[in-house]
Amino acid sequence: MKLDGVPSRTIWLEPDGWSVGIIDQTLLPHKLERPSLKSVEDAARAIKSMQVRGAPLIGVTAAYGVALAMRVDASDASLDRTVAFLGEQRPTAVNLRWALEDLRATLMPLAPGVRAVAAYARAAELADEDIETCRKIGVNGLSLIRDIAAKKGGQPVNVLTHCNAGWLACVDWGTATSPIYHAHDAGIPVHVWVDETRPRNQGAALTAFELLQHGVSHSLIADNAGGHFMQQGDVDLVIVGTDRVTANGDVANKIGTYLKALAAHDTHVPFYVALPFSTIDWRTEKGSDIPIEERGEDEVLRMQGRLPNGEVSSVLISAEGTHARNPAFDVTPARLVTGFITERGICPASREGLQSLYPEKVSAAA
Ligand code: MRU
Repeated sequence: MKLDGVPSRTIWLEPDGWSVGIIDQTLLPHKLERPSLKSVEDAARAIKSMQVRGAPLIGVTAAYGVALAMRVDASDASLDRTVAFLGEQRPTAVNLRWALEDLRATLMPLAPGVRAVAAYARAAELADEDIETCRKIGVNGLSLIRDIAAKKGGQPVNVLTHCNAGWLACVDWGTATSPIYHAHDAGIPVHVWVDETRPRNQGAALTAFELLQHGVSHSLIADNAGGHFMQQGDVDLVIVGTDRVTANGDVANKIGTYLKALAAHDTHVPFYVALPFSTIDWRTEKGSDIPIEERGEDEVLRMQGRLPNGEVSSVLISAEGTHARNPAFDVTPARLVTGFITERGICPASREGLQSLYPEKVSAAA
């Protein structure tokens, strides 16, 4: 996707050949800064503070974090320590564990002297693979939008999305946004309802920003407005991303996703979840077994924005002394999900549906 007209990725190797460039997503949309990660500690901090966020991008950042660690100490003990350290930065997105397990399995059989080079190569492969996977998700999801467009006779297809499962959450394309970008690029009129996504406002700050950059028609809405628009017949389709799908098809995603799924179910609006294979947790049976990240109360008590002097700052929105709870994700039961859009195709949101697209996982478990 493009930033100020320039094709961009969310993570890259810097010209020095070892430090890792990222977009600081905590400052968007008001400031576009591209800091460099120079150590595994930098990578961990970027993941925890959400300079990088979104399940696929967290995984790729962790892979580069391992490479940064291997430059300094490539011993077995360091590799194990690094995998454990990075893995504890955010608990819900299973892509983090997936990427770290991949890196560990790739590096452990190698001699320590070649591990750093191999880690950089594998991290780059994961980044490229993520782009191709998201592209395919878009091609598959495009068929849903195309079908609706055909029935609407030229009227825009209204898609509602929650949080940011866009290219900023991946390396490029996004998951939930990829079908939207593909539809837009194919000339299909599409309009996106963007949930603001309190408390961190990923919809307002990130999804609206990237849709604007790509020229896709969209309207920002308060989190509480989605059900109303569904009742009014103004939503044709919901597409969200996910941080983890369990073996039975339950979906963990940004807090508030469950409420959108309930409203969609009640109003008979199709509710799809877009995901890459790396977000399926075959080892976890059901949604209630997923660890839900609890973040600091300041994210709820305060709001960040741009002051008239251009400075990005946060303000208190409740009385001094008020306390808050801040679960970052919720679980949408599979029964509320119309289907999964994956790089291999679209399937029902169920164990059987997932297994029909990934039959090798059935035989691996047998
Ligand atoms: O807390 P975040 O911003 O990392 O949460 C992101 C989401 O919930 C996304 O919807 C999910 O990771 C899918 S990203 C393609």
